[in-house]
Amino acid sequence: VLSASDTAAVRALWKKLGNNVGVYTTEALERTFLAFPSTKTYFLHLDLRPGSTQVKAHGQKVADALTLAVDHLDDLPHVLSALSDLHSHKLQVDPVNFKLLSHCLLVTLARHYPGDFSPALQASLDKFLRHVILALASGYP
Ligand code: HEM
Repeated sequence: VLSASDTAAVRALWKKLGNNVGVYTTEALERTFLAFPSTKTYFLHLDLRPGSTQVKAHGQKVADALTLAVDHLDDLPHVLSALSDLHSHKLQVDPVNFKLLSHCLLVTLARHYPGDFSPALQASLDKFLRHVILALASGYP
């Protein structure tokens, strides 16, 4: 479980991100596609060029899911269960990919908020993302 200080740190960061969560998740997706090209195989039906409006739209969906997670930190498996089903049964995304995306999101946020990225915040955010991944992976057999 996330400690009270992890929860507070993640909530404070999210508040700071405000309406820009989608901007950063989109950048994180673009970084993931660049750094780990095999991740692109799941998105062959989308235009994956940098600046693509389709990637931006997808980034916003991922952002909304993460914001929902931030708002329900004590209930992640429940709020993310439909997404877990989608990624496991329907899309058959190999769960290793979740770590790649969350790594790229950490890098993205650290780059945009260098002053906030204390080791403590990084650890709290890393924990949060690990919980999200665990919830997303819970639908896998
Ligand atoms: C779709 C969230 C990681 C592949 C989605 C959707 C959301 C989402 C909210 C849209 C669902 C809908 O339209 O109902 C997340 C979150 C992730 C994550 C929160 C991790 C933090 C990944 C990873 C991959 C992936 C790592 C593959 C490398 C896909 C694909 C779709 C999808 C292929 C369908 C896209 C489309 O056809 O529009 N995801 N996702 N996801 N996700 Fe993820």
